[in-house]
Amino acid sequence: MSSIDREFIDALPKAELHVHIEGTLEPELKLELARRNGVDIGQSTVEEVRATYAFTDLTSFLAVYYPAMEVLVTEQDFHDLALGYLRRAAADGVVRAEIFFDPQAHTSRGVPFATVIDGLWSAIQEAPSLGVDAALIMCFLRDHSAESARETLEASLPYREKIVGVGLDSDERGNPPEKFAEVFAAAQEAGYRLTMHCDVDQEQSIANIATVLHTIGVERIDHGTNILEDPALVAEAMQRGIGFTCCPLSNSFVSDQMKGEEITALLRQGAKVSLASDDPAYFGGYVGDNYAALAAAQQLGREELALLARNSLEISWADQAQVARWLEQLDAVVAS
Ligand code: ADE
Ligand code: ZN
Repeated sequence: MSSIDREFIDALPKAELHVHIEGTLEPELKLELARRNGVDIGQSTVEEVRATYAFTDLTSFLAVYYPAMEVLVTEQDFHDLALGYLRRAAADGVVRAEIFFDPQAHTSRGVPFATVIDGLWSAIQEAPSLGVDAALIMCFLRDHSAESARETLEASLPYREKIVGVGLDSDERGNPPEKFAEVFAAAQEAGYRLTMHCDVDQEQSIANIATVLHTIGVERIDHGTNILEDPALVAEAMQRGIGFTCCPLSNSFVSDQMKGEEITALLRQGAKVSLASDDPAYFGGYVGDNYAALAAAQQLGREELALLARNSLEISWADQAQVARWLEQLDAVVAS
């Protein structure tokens, strides 16, 4: 990838639709928050923190990921985390960020829901000054019970206007989407938009993808490239305009490769594929790095890079008039 093309990538107005705010916890901030809150994390240098990042699949990643969150305690911590992410996103040309957060990962440690959302929300209010329109998506942890998800949904309702949608993340193994069918129906009833993780190469990937399309009725699928195993499902997803939020760098950590061929095949078939960073502090790069990595691996040209950015804006849950303005800006970048 030439530096010119990296400039082109960064200049493209884009939406990042799959980033876990807890996954943006860089080692430097982790150490600072540990000091601030008097939490003994067992490491005292960035190198020591990075040395704990040894994972080969989703389960081993999550085993490192959740304990790291113990440094997030106060509203200020959540604010600092989110503002740090938003600054990096702005530098990558992100004009719209729809940010996942995992309330149960915090409430289960005794951090109140209000602390989490108030801290994140105060950072989101600063996003426009960085040129970013930001929103929050609340994820339920699929390895917790459906009842816990239902309680979390209830806890969110006083903050309904601060959360655009709900998602489902954490360990897919043994936790299929149908476990959460009722709570997703209730969330939709409350006005939330719906998305769900269908992580790559899971035991029941294709069955789970069929369920999220047919039973849950999501608008987007996070990851989801295993859909290629069933051409009829691909055709259905395209016909319904289902969005895919794919994360090449993340894939290369939690599976055997970045799934570049699959992401590109889905894009070229006409599915609404977008790129995102997932957990950038752990997977070696932010959204621009994901565009660059896929472009280098699959020899994508400017037209396809622009198509990925265009898709991201079109499948975002932003105001439609605003989306139209971003698309005009994108066309201007492509034309220039
Ligand atoms: N939580 C954070 N990152 C995740 C991922 N890639 N899959 C499922 N849950 C997650
Ligand atoms: Zn994810």
